Amino acid sequence: MTPRREIRFLLNDRPVHQTQVAATDMLLDHLRLDQRLRGTKEGCAEGDCGACTVLVGRLGLRGLEYAPVNACIRALASCDGCHVVTVEHLRGTDGGLHPVQRAMVEHHASQCGFCTPGFVMALYALWMVTPHPTEAQIETALQGNLCRCTGYAPIIRAGLAMGDYGTTDPLMEERAQVAETLARWQDGAQVEVAKGENRAILPASVDDLADVLTAYPDARIVAGATDVGLWVTKFLRDIPLAVFINHLDGLRQVRETKDALHLGAMVSYEEARAPLLAHFPHLARYWDRIAGWQVRAMGTLGGNIANGSPIGDTPPPFIALGARLVLRKGAARREIPLEDLFIDYGKQDRAPGEFVEEIILPKPRPDTLHAAYKLSKRRDEDISAVALGIALTIEEGTISEARLAFGGMAATPKRATQAEAALIGQPFTVDTLEAAARALPQDFTPLSDMRASADYRMRASQNLLRRFWFETQGETAALEDAL
Ligand SMILES: Cc1cc2nc3c(=O)[nH]c(=O)nc-3n(C[C@H](O)[C@H](O)[C@H](O)COP(=O)(O)OP(=O)(O)OC[C@H]3O[C@@H](n4cnc5c(N)ncnc54)[C@H](O)[C@@H]3O)c2cc1C
Ligand code: FES
Ligand code: FES
Repeated sequence: MTPRREIRFLLNDRPVHQTQVAATDMLLDHLRLDQRLRGTKEGCAEGDCGACTVLVGRLGLRGLEYAPVNACIRALASCDGCHVVTVEHLRGTDGGLHPVQRAMVEHHASQCGFCTPGFVMALYALWMVTPHPTEAQIETALQGNLCRCTGYAPIIRAGLAMGDYGTTDPLMEERAQVAETLARWQDGAQVEVAKGENRAILPASVDDLADVLTAYPDARIVAGATDVGLWVTKFLRDIPLAVFINHLDGLRQVRETKDALHLGAMVSYEEARAPLLAHFPHLARYWDRIAGWQVRAMGTLGGNIANGSPIGDTPPPFIALGARLVLRKGAARREIPLEDLFIDYGKQDRAPGEFVEEIILPKPRPDTLHAAYKLSKRRDEDISAVALGIALTIEEGTISEARLAFGGMAATPKRATQAEAALIGQPFTVDTLEAAARALPQDFTPLSDMRASADYRMRASQNLLRRFWFETQGETAALEDAL
């Protein structure tokens, strides 16, 4: 089958067809420079400030769903088959201001105005699913939006009131038509677009992806682009050939078997939340500490693992849970313990042309205690200085199994095998946890960098083990207040 040589998407209320697209072309530049839609702003160009927030609707496994995304790091090619909604498209049912905009105006929630379109779009995404949110829901929804003049209080008041100004809008009425257009465009074809020497391929299916990567083993896989996008916008790196995978529903599946939860590599943080928390409720707080809503909607589990970062947030808790990884190259699949992927800094056990297909999390045993902690300079939208996943199985008061996996303590996410050895076979007591804390320096010699000093990292890690003990004894309230 010959590939389709154009990408097509709906931009607000009109179709866009683009043939000249490089893998490095970002949606924000297309909106502002090509489409002259300047309501969407550029603040940081690295996914941090939310000024560029737009909604992207996608017809996927659960029908047409919209998510807020950072247009600055959203690759244009990956918008194929989507509905991009910018602030210019917002309006109320009477053709005037949208309920979210009215709430912002009436609560004096815009000061400099530069960040305002981004806040409006993030609140709009929240209003779509929850027109009358709680303050906590608003705070979580706005984690990825910065107001430099710190006007958060009126913005939150606007969020609390937005449902009072209306709960429907014209886009809701357009939905059926949008879904019909996007469904008509789903032709099952491979897409290949180029600009100059730059090529971007969107495989037709997961099998096609395997074939494309066999043919081009050095191609750059692009999933949510929340890492790759920054290589382009901040490091001006070229990507001669990119293979986009975010449209592949075959990699977005969440499956449950009797013993395990299977998460496709393209499952985003947001999509993973409900199935994950259903089995591992201890991750609730940790999960909300990953990035902000926009990045959680774009960033994927597979991307977080495959980038091999020592401070990626999914490996520590997943390794503690005994996660396994399914890697695929052509038709061949192999399954490895997640920790075995990470060989050294920037070096993973993944051959050219091989990709992460699935993450398998065994369901927890009732006699296992779990915890996951993240320490970072800021509570919201910050990368970990230290992260820890813990799983201790206690049988008749004795620790029979221990898995402690740390991020930020070594060149890769890593298990603390000496500390684990200090726990296994010992009674579950504060003294045993203290012995594990004393063993940690045998496992790690952390670095000092801009996120934390080596001393802080070691002491904080030891204290996290103590914290785990106190939490298991029910002493959580004081700890929560102290954070
Ligand atoms: C503002 C901001 C905040 C962030 N906060 C956090 C945070 O709090 N915690 C955290 O851990 N991370 C954070 N990140 C980093 C990033 O969001 C995550 O690492 C994310 O999970 C990467 O996934 P992605 O789909 O965007 O990957 P991409 O950027 O698309 O790809 C990342 C790497 O993985 C490779 N890759 C992707 N998918 C596959 C696959 N299936 N098989 C093989 N290789 C693959 C790519 O080739 C690339 O090398 C943040 C990023 C930003 C911009
Ligand atoms: S411009 Fe700051 S998040 Fe995109
Ligand atoms: S109103 Fe724009 S930064 Fe606060």
